Amino acid sequence: MAVETSPQRDTATSGSDLLELRGIRRTFGSTVALNDVSLVVRAGTIHTVLGENGSGKSTLVKILSGVLEPNSGTVAVAGKMLTRGTPRKARTLGIATVFQEVLVAPNRSVVENVMLGQDSWHSWRVRGQARDDLAISALTELSSHRFDPRAEVGDLTLVQQHQVTIARALVLKPDVLVLDESTAALDIEERDRLFVAVRRRVEEGMAVVFISHRMDEVLSLSDDVTVLRSGSRIETLRKDELSERRLLSLLNSEVVA
Ligand SMILES: Nc1ncnc2c1ncn2[C@@H]1O[C@H](COP(=O)(O)OP(=O)(O)O)[C@@H](O)[C@H]1O
Ligand SMILES: [Mg+2]
Repeated sequence: MAVETSPQRDTATSGSDLLELRGIRRTFGSTVALNDVSLVVRAGTIHTVLGENGSGKSTLVKILSGVLEPNSGTVAVAGKMLTRGTPRKARTLGIATVFQEVLVAPNRSVVENVMLGQDSWHSWRVRGQARDDLAISALTELSSHRFDPRAEVGDLTLVQQHQVTIARALVLKPDVLVLDESTAALDIEERDRLFVAVRRRVEEGMAVVFISHRMDEVLSLSDDVTVLRSGSRIETLRKDELSERRLLSLLNSEVVA
């Protein structure tokens, strides 16, 4: 039997192509949510996907997380294809996602919720105190709140629940971390903590797909920015090409560049 849940994966060289989406199309009835979208995310970089509401960002996130299937097109990590994707397969390829909606099990504890994404490999090996420590140390990176490992997540604030979902992705030690509007609910201090936690891992080679509406953080954080409009990729800019003016014109201009 293949050891599909081993967290040991080949570490990609920083800057090399890691996540590749090719020709992704996805429709919902007559709505074309994504139309022939291709993009490449390099190891050790933060790739922002920027677009108005309804431009297809969350659909893209769900496809590369194995939650939704594309009608056509491919997703690959380090050359390995996510075919007939499931969330479990996406995790096996090294993708961890923090979805826009806060997904927690309200009646279960903080630690159980942080460890929810773990496949059996970890549940077997990381037990008891070590399990608590792993979960709480991820949360401590994200928040000054002292989380009680046994507290029921339903009793936490919405922001704290959100941090539980971010911690859940971090403890997976992903090669590709996907953050869909994860800063929207956070205040400045918590957001900065998240950025420190993310940057630390990016320096170690992790790639990030970052979805945000906030121009300031997009400009300060991104290595690459792909602009989506009505499900189509309009342009991908590198860091040295980024400016607020340029991004706004790509987001809003009537003429497709
Ligand atoms: N499950 C769904 N059923 C029907 N339409 C959907 C579904 N998910 C997304 N859409 C539609 O697809 C388009 C893109 O949505 P979405 O990916 O959520 O955009 P964004 O995250 O950029 O706001 C929108 O028109 C949205 O209404
Ligand atoms: Mg969305």
